[in-house]
This record gives sequence, C-alpha cells and structure tokens, in this order.
Amino acid sequence: MSTVTLTIEGKSYELPTVEGTEKEKAIDIAKLRDLTGYVTLDTGYKNTGATKSTITFLDGENGILHYRGYPIEQLADKSNFVEVAYLLIYGALPTQAEYNRFVGMLAEETKLHDDVKKILDGFPKTAHPMGVLTAVISALTAFDPDSLNPHRPWAEVERTIVRLIAQMPVLIAWIYKKSIGEAYPNPKWDKGYVEDYSSYMFGSASGGYTINPVIIGALHKLLILHADHEQNCSTSTVRIVGSSDASLYSSIAAGVCALWGPLHGGANQEVLEMLEEIRKDGGDTKKYLDKARDKNDPFRLMGFGHRVYKNFDPRARIIKVACDEVLTELGVKDPILEIAKQLEQAALSDEYFVQRKLYPNVDFYSGIIYRALGIPVEFFTVMFAFGRLPGWISQWKELKDNKEPIGRPRQIYTGATNRDYVEISKR
Ligand code: SDX
Repeated sequence: MSTVTLTIEGKSYELPTVEGTEKEKAIDIAKLRDLTGYVTLDTGYKNTGATKSTITFLDGENGILHYRGYPIEQLADKSNFVEVAYLLIYGALPTQAEYNRFVGMLAEETKLHDDVKKILDGFPKTAHPMGVLTAVISALTAFDPDSLNPHRPWAEVERTIVRLIAQMPVLIAWIYKKSIGEAYPNPKWDKGYVEDYSSYMFGSASGGYTINPVIIGALHKLLILHADHEQNCSTSTVRIVGSSDASLYSSIAAGVCALWGPLHGGANQEVLEMLEEIRKDGGDTKKYLDKARDKNDPFRLMGFGHRVYKNFDPRARIIKVACDEVLTELGVKDPILEIAKQLEQAALSDEYFVQRKLYPNVDFYSGIIYRALGIPVEFFTVMFAFGRLPGWISQWKELKDNKEPIGRPRQIYTGATNRDYVEISKR
C-alpha cells in the first residue's frame, strides 16, 4: 500500500492512500486525529470522499457516467428503467429469470394502502408535491412497521425495497390527482411499470387512456438518466440518515427533502420558470447572462454548473437530443426550447461561464420534455425523485451491507471561549 507523508510542527506522519478501480486517488485520514490531533476542514465536502462505492462512477473532466460500469449512453439507449433499477440495487444486469422475478415482485407490491388517501386528503390542493411526497414516504413506515429494523434478513429488506419502488408511481399519481381534484387511480399492475404510471397520471377513472409509446420511451430515458449520481447532496443525505439505522423510508424521505432544494433537484422547476420569464421578457438571453454574471444580482442561470462535471454533463447531452425527438414526435412546438438552446449557445461562448466551467446540467433541458409529456412544473422535481429512487436505495443498501458507522463529521469551533453566566439584571 502506498502512503503520503504529512509533516506537522516538525513531525512527519505516514498516511495510507487508496486507489479506486478508475484510478481515483484518496488519502485515508481515518487515523489523522489520533495521530496528529488535527481534523480536516472542507466546507461543502468539495474535496472529501465519504465512502468507497461500487455503484456509480463519474468523471467530471471527461463527462463520463457509468452505473455499475455500464456507460449511461448505452443504458439510456438500450435498457429500461426497471432493468436499471435492478442493476443499481442488485449490482448486475438481471438474467431473464431474475428480471421476471423482479417484475413479479413489483406487480405484487403495487397496492398502496387505502389509508394513504386519508393522509393525502389532509393536505391542501396547493401543497407542493415534494412536501407531500416526503411526508407520505416517511408515513409508509406505518404500513410496513417491520421496516424499522434495517438488519432483518435480506428477503424481508428486499420486500420493503420492492414495495417502495412499486408504490412510488402510484403515490406520485395519487398526489397529482389530488392536486387537480380527480379520483385516485386504482393501483394494479397492467401493462408495465412506466406504462401503468402514465395511465395513473394521465388516464381517468372512466378509462379509455391510450398508452403513447413516445411518452413511455421518453419516461424510461429520463428516469434512467436520473437514477443515480454517486455522492450528490440528496444521496449523501440518504446515506447519513441511513447510517443512524433509521428505516429505508426515513432515509428516502430525507433524500426527497434534500433533492427539493433549488440548487439540487429543485433546479429543473427553476429552469422552466426562468425560461418562461425570459420568454415573457422578449427572449433577451443576453440580459439574463448579464444578470447571472452580476455578483450584486442573486440571479443564477439555473440548470447551469455542476460540482463535478467541468466539461459537460453527459445526461444533459442525451436529454437535449431527446428534447427535439420527443417534441417532434408529439407534435409539440415549445418556444422555450429555442430560448434554452440560445441561452446555452450564448453561455458556452461567454468568458464568465467558460472560465468557471459552467455547462448545462441534467436539469437544463429535462423540464422541457416533462412539460411536453403533460407533467406540471411543480412535479418536475418529483420526477427527479422518481428516477433517483433506485439509486438512493442502492446507496442505502451498500451502506448497510458494508456496516458503515454512523456519520458524524467534526468541526472547528470559532465561537466565544469559556465565560461565566451573567444574570439578566446585570447585563
Ligand atoms: C443537480 O451533485 C450532483 O451530482 C447533483 C446532480 C445529481 O444528479 O444529483 O447532478 C443534480 O443538483 C444538478 C445541479 C442543479 N442545480 C442548478 O442548476 C443550480 C444552478 N447551479 C448552481 O447553483 C451551481 O452551479 C451548483 C450548485 C450546481 C454547483 O455549485 P458549486 O460547485 O458549489 O459551485 P459554486 O457555487 O462555488 O460556483 C463556482 C463559481 C461561482 O462564481 P465565483 O464566486 O467563482 O465568481 O461559479 C458561479 C458561482 O457564482 N456559478 C454560477 C452558476 N453556478 C456557479 N454563476 C451563475 N449561474 C450559475 N448557475
């Protein structure tokens, strides 16, 4: 094993290094504080590895994204979301028999308890669906109380995992139907996971909904592209909550909360609202690039920039191509697609963006497709959570399988030093 030498106050310490299968390197500082009394400080964890993982590999400089070694371009083009969910959770592409077993388990677990409707009825129609989603996912513990013990035999943990994946599309559709005052669709496995989701969402109690293969293909692609992304903000949240032995539902509900933030998954809703604002303002992309550059203006170009990708986000490239295909196939003309392309073109030749390596990320074009599919803008981040669910679950499972300790970062205290209490009458 190779080491690095750290010299502090004249004394040298050997620290081991770690090299991953894709040649990423780290200094293992597990013993740093015991050896030196020092901790590291890295606000936002920009240079800190939280774990070793075999699930997803990102190369930010070269725009590479692999799930379990498979390039995202191949999975988006050839696989389907159920198969990718299996790949992420079980670690390998399924044989036909394994795939059939997984689909059979999903079909068995689709029924969402009727009492969930009473929980949904407690929310105002105007409630943001991400707030409802996190609340209800956490509440699902009540209908699966054994899930409070994450150390059950694998068959029982697997059942909970499959149940959550199976019920997610039903829950999303129930939240949506509640928001538009329509009846809750009856959950039953009919044509397939994504097909049934589109029927739940866009069909009506009177039936007669025709599955559109263009919509189904676009949904599979979008869900696959969002399925995992190594240690991003919401996945790190799922892992740290899971590290306290909280249930899978609690860990996922926490991930939904983190994803909701506009700097993270909430950006896809912000992008659409930004593009709409630019459209209403006459399509003056230069004005908005100037605002994004202006340090005194809180405006950011939403859907641009990434903590890891400093060249291009491979998912954005795939979604941009899919935008044209899906809108053409659906016969949808959306003026904000042209505005998005003009904005991207202008930003990619703008010194401020080029110097800071700011490129379109996964959220920049995805909302344009969601809108073309008939998904309301406040549900865009819900769609991100829908896609990210198997990734979150696979990361939670890896944490438990590896028996990782509870996450508890240190700090450097910079507050008031020791002082005595003074009664209020003497202050
Ligand atoms: C996702 O981590 C993941 O993998 C996340 C994700 C996943 O799949 O899980 O990929 C999903 O969250 C994608 C990102 C969606 N968020 C947005 O689109 C919001 C807009 N972008 C940002 O706010 C920002 O780019 C972040 C949050 C994505 C990244 O922030 P960083 O890495 O902390 O970078 P930073 O804020 O330190 O910015 C560095 C510089 C700053 O300028 P200077 O201080 O150097 O002058 O770039 C500027 C920033 O002001 N900058 C932007 C900008 N993003 C960064 N300026 C204008 N518009 C932007 N969008």
